[in-house]
Amino acid sequence: MVKRSAETDDRRSAQRDPALDALAHDITTRRGDRYHLRPIRPEDEDVLIAMLKRSAREDIRLRFLVAIHDIDRALATRLARIDYDREMALAAIAEDGSLGGVARLATEPDGKTAEYAVMVRSDLKGTGLGYVLLGEILTYARSRGIKRVWGEVLMHNTAMLTLAREFGFKRQQIADDPGVVRVTLDLT
Ligand SMILES: CC(C)(COP(=O)(O)OP(=O)(O)OC[C@H]1O[C@@H](n2cnc3c(N)ncnc32)[C@H](O)[C@@H]1OP(=O)(O)O)[C@@H](O)C(=O)NCCC(=O)NCCS
Repeated sequence: MVKRSAETDDRRSAQRDPALDALAHDITTRRGDRYHLRPIRPEDEDVLIAMLKRSAREDIRLRFLVAIHDIDRALATRLARIDYDREMALAAIAEDGSLGGVARLATEPDGKTAEYAVMVRSDLKGTGLGYVLLGEILTYARSRGIKRVWGEVLMHNTAMLTLAREFGFKRQQIADDPGVVRVTLDLT
């Protein structure tokens, strides 16, 4: 764990965009667990690494669609430092300060279509957090004027396919990749 100085944290806080801070709020899952939901920040690298290290390899593969052998700083940096003009990552911070899950959105150049992805830490799967995270990222997408959200899901990822269906996503086979399904939701 890399120690940060209070001065560094203060400087980072001072640089934070108030519009991003305004998105922060508390959420509660069907199990009654409470999380603080907020846009991911550059200083979240350590909690991201911890979340991935506490998760099963298979869950990481389901999220990234490829096997990831090294959960290293470079990966955490890429996930924590985003361009908020075209991306969003909402982080669910548990009461103990750990990261429970993340919902992401990457907007395409047309500004109307965006790809989503959700990951819940393996030990928290099935507690209702994924449901809340997907709902929250869709609400954010609507607020940004996104008209269509899509995701690529491995064919055997029944948890994500079930969740997507609950939100009204439609499934579509990908011609050149029989192992992957594209799910799409038109936002109104
Ligand atoms: C897929 C994934 C995000 C789902 O998240 P999760 O937290 O495990 O899922 P949830 O507990 O929210 O499950 C959804 C379930 O709750 C229901 N649900 C949860 N909360 C609910 C609520 N408040 N109201 C109504 N229904 C709810 C869903 O319909 C579904 O039903 P079931 O568990 O009774 O069968 C998670 O399993 C995960 O991270 N997997 C690995 C990575 C991955 O596959 N990511 C997807 C890449 S796009």
